[in-house]
Amino acid sequence: MRIGDIRPQDSQIADSLDMLLDTSLGQEAVFVGYNVVLEGEAVKLQQDTIERFTCPALVRITRAISWDEARHVSFGHAYLADRLPKLEQGHRFEIYRHIKQCWEVAAAAPRDDTGAFGKILTRKRAEYMNTRWHQHHRALTKIGLILPGELPPT
Ligand SMILES: [Fe+2]
Repeated sequence: MRIGDIRPQDSQIADSLDMLLDTSLGQEAVFVGYNVVLEGEAVKLQQDTIERFTCPALVRITRAISWDEARHVSFGHAYLADRLPKLEQGHRFEIYRHIKQCWEVAAAAPRDDTGAFGKILTRKRAEYMNTRWHQHHRALTKIGLILPGELPPT
């Protein structure tokens, strides 16, 4: 890979994004997947970049992008917090299971993973994805996909 090349898309992530769209659970399911989970990951990526890199220009650009991504998350939360609590419990829980399954596909070991370095990265990825799911779970609860007093579906 050279500077200027575009890295090939992670096939696990691509499959997960396709799964998010391939649902009969309604627009709420798509908004949960994209505007809460995926946009939430976009904000996290920008925050991590700001913390790790010292180039002032990169940090300024990344900060501007992070504000935009945060608006996308805010839209998702505002839209869904009004709609999700009105859905039947069975419907909400199906959305939760669907989103979690998509997350598990994204968290799976890359198909092209080889060698010791790849194994370390894969372990780190699994730890990261597990930690991040807990944070998404909290966000999904906050916007009413799981209501107070309900146990999350398994
Ligand atoms: Fe976005």
